[in-house]
Formats: sequence, structure tokens, C-alpha cells
Amino acid sequence: MTMQHAASIVLHVDLGERSYPIVIGSSLLSEPDCLRQYITGKRVAVVTNTTVAPLYLSQFTQALNDAGKEVIPIILPDGEEYKNWENLMKIFDVLLHEKGDRKITLIALGGGVIGDMTGFAAASYMRGVPFVQVPTTLLAQVDSSVGGKTGINHPLGKNMIGAFYQPQAVIADIAALDTLPANELSAGLAEVIKHGAIIDALFFDWIEENIEKLVAKDKQALAYAIQRSCEIKAEVVRQDEKEGGLRAILNFGHTFGHAIEAGLGYGAWLHGEAVGCGMVMASDLSHRLGMIDSRSKERIAAVVAAAGLPVKAPNLGVDRWLELMQVDKKNEGGQIKFILLEPLGKAIITTVPNDALVATLNACCETNRP
Ligand code: NAD
Ligand code: GLY
Repeated sequence: MTMQHAASIVLHVDLGERSYPIVIGSSLLSEPDCLRQYITGKRVAVVTNTTVAPLYLSQFTQALNDAGKEVIPIILPDGEEYKNWENLMKIFDVLLHEKGDRKITLIALGGGVIGDMTGFAAASYMRGVPFVQVPTTLLAQVDSSVGGKTGINHPLGKNMIGAFYQPQAVIADIAALDTLPANELSAGLAEVIKHGAIIDALFFDWIEENIEKLVAKDKQALAYAIQRSCEIKAEVVRQDEKEGGLRAILNFGHTFGHAIEAGLGYGAWLHGEAVGCGMVMASDLSHRLGMIDSRSKERIAAVVAAAGLPVKAPNLGVDRWLELMQVDKKNEGGQIKFILLEPLGKAIITTVPNDALVATLNACCETNRP
């Protein structure tokens, strides 16, 4: 359901007693009324990082104080390589030191790394405390803040340790994207493109038509991309919260993408960059198996490139690629599961013949050896 709320848009993730609003608007970070309405509890711990804190922590803290909240800041190092056990423990260290009780609300102020770690901390601190997502990257606003997947990386696999834990609210401030670097904006566009490709062919058409505006941070275009992405994700999560089946389609491009991230070392490529390239690879595989035509495959590669994302994968070597793709939560009984398109605008979850997979790896990877 979509509801206009002052200058903001309010969507709802419909999950029974775990339902929550997604508020999308401009300058929400500094609006005490909005924060008072959507954040319960008097004591809040704001988890953020060394990049976002200097940009937004003081205005956010001021607005929270004006909304009657006492704020405990927790500032972590910035980067995917810090989405680990050690930094999760740092959150618990502060919470315990500050004698945070079961009523403390954890607020994630940052991108997907902060959101995933803070959510997992909230899921496990005292067996679960309230949690609010305040996403400040496009990727987090269109994807990671919605749906309750939380967690950290393990050296042997990405996001392998975690929990499904829904936030109480998502507050997405489009104005925060003003300071987002271009490559991070592109990374978020990968997930926007994903939503069109897997579910909504008309949205995919719209993205193609508006990709230049999106790259140029046109506010209206971004607002629509965020709204439509959240609507699509909220509907998938409503149908399959814990990924018994359908939700896995949200991992389009991720089987290849996660292998790129792990193979090059976390942080070498942005998650969204790896997903962008992974979608090109999954489209190549879909085409090889006769599920999409060559025009659809080209359209996907073209829009990924126009979003400023890589379309050629690193050459990790076929054996290493296969080994990395074996470590994926979708796999069952040692068989790698892929999300493919059949046709563009609709996704299926399937295993594939090895020769087609190897042909895709050979076609999509750089020719130089690592
Ligand atoms: P990120 O959290 O690393 O943020 C990207 C960079 O932008 C960081 O350097 C961050 O400090 C900086 N930043 C954040 N907000 C900013 C702002 N407003 N202005 C300037 N700089 C800003 O990366 P991300 O792309 O947001 O998220 C990627 C993570 O999300 C990955 O760990 C991925 O696994 C996870 N993820 C989770 C889900 C989910 O459903 N939980 C879905 C997709 C991705
Ligand atoms: N990003 C995949 C999911 O939330 O299920």
C-alpha cells in the first residue's frame, strides 16, 4: 500500500505483527516529528561509521534529542572488510558498558554494511531489541534496509552468519544521497535494475529511459526508483519472509557477484558493482539456455554499463569460480542454484548444465589470468 504523508511517501511492509512502515522523503534525518513518530523508546544507540558520522551524526543526534531521545553514538570503521565478528562485538561492548536494557533501540545510520551489522546486533543483544533502519546509500534505500536480512561476513563466505530480524521502521532520506560518491550511487542502481529485471518489465523500461537522470541524481527520478524498488521488495518479502522459495529471486546476479566479492577479497569491488556484473553474467547464461533473446541480454548489459557498473568479470579461473559459487546459501546438496530470467521481467530459480556455466564464465571474464 502507498500513502502520501506530508512531503513524504509511506509504504508498508505487510508481515502481520512484524509489519512496519518505510518512510521516503527529503531531510527526514533532521525532522524531530518524523523521528518521534517512527522511533519508539527513550534511549537509542545510533550505529554509524567514520564516513557517515562527520556528515550526518550531529544533525541526526540533534533531531533525536529534539524528539526527546537520549543518544548513544557507536562509530565503527568504514568498509565491507569490517562487517565482521570483531566489529559486531564492538557494538555489544558499548551497549553493555552503557547498561543498555531491553528497551534500547538500535538505529543503523549508514549503508548496507552498517544496516546488516546493526540489525544482527539488535537481533542478538539481550535476545532482541527494537531496531530502526536509517539508510544513507541508494543501495540501502532500495534494498538492504527492507526485508530483515541481517548479518556479517565470514572469511569463507559472505553474509554467512546472521538472522532474519525485521526493523520497526525504515526512514530513507533522499537528501542524504547528495553526498554519496558516484560509484556508490551506481552500486545502488544495480539493485534498482535488478528489481525491474526480475519482476517488472515496465519498471525495467522506465529505468532504461531514465538511467541518465538517475546517474545525475535527479531527485524525482531517484524518489520513484526508491519507491518502486521498495514496493517490489516489500511484496516479495511479504510472500516469503524467510526465503523458503520466491525471495531467492532477489539474488539475481548475486551468485556470480558474491563469487567476485569473495574471490577478489571483500572491499575490492563494491557489492553493487559485483551484482551489476553478476546480472550481466546471469543474463548471458539465461540466453545460452534459450530463456531470453539476444536483444534482452544486450539491453541488460547496456543499462548496467549506462549505470556506471562493470560488465566484464575478473578472471579468477574456472575452477576457482566454481569453488566460490559452491558457497552460497541458495545451494542444495552441493548443486549451485542460479536465478535466471525467463523472459526479461520474470525470474526463475534453477540449476544449470556445467558446460553452459563454463561457457558463460569464459565469455564474461576478462581474458588476462589473475
Ligand atoms: P556501504 O554500507 O559500505 O556504504 C558504501 C559507502 O558509502 C561507505 O563508504 C559508506 O560509509 C558511504 N556512505 C554511506 N552513506 C553515505 C552518504 N550519504 N554520503 C557519503 N558516503 C556515504 O555499502 P552499501 O552499498 O550501502 O551496502 C552494501 C552491503 O549491503 C553489503 O554488505 C551487502 O552484503 C549488504 N546488502 C544487504 C542486503 C540485505 O537484504 N540485508 C541487500 C543488499 C546488500
Ligand atoms: N537482497 C536479497 C534479499 O533481501 O533477499
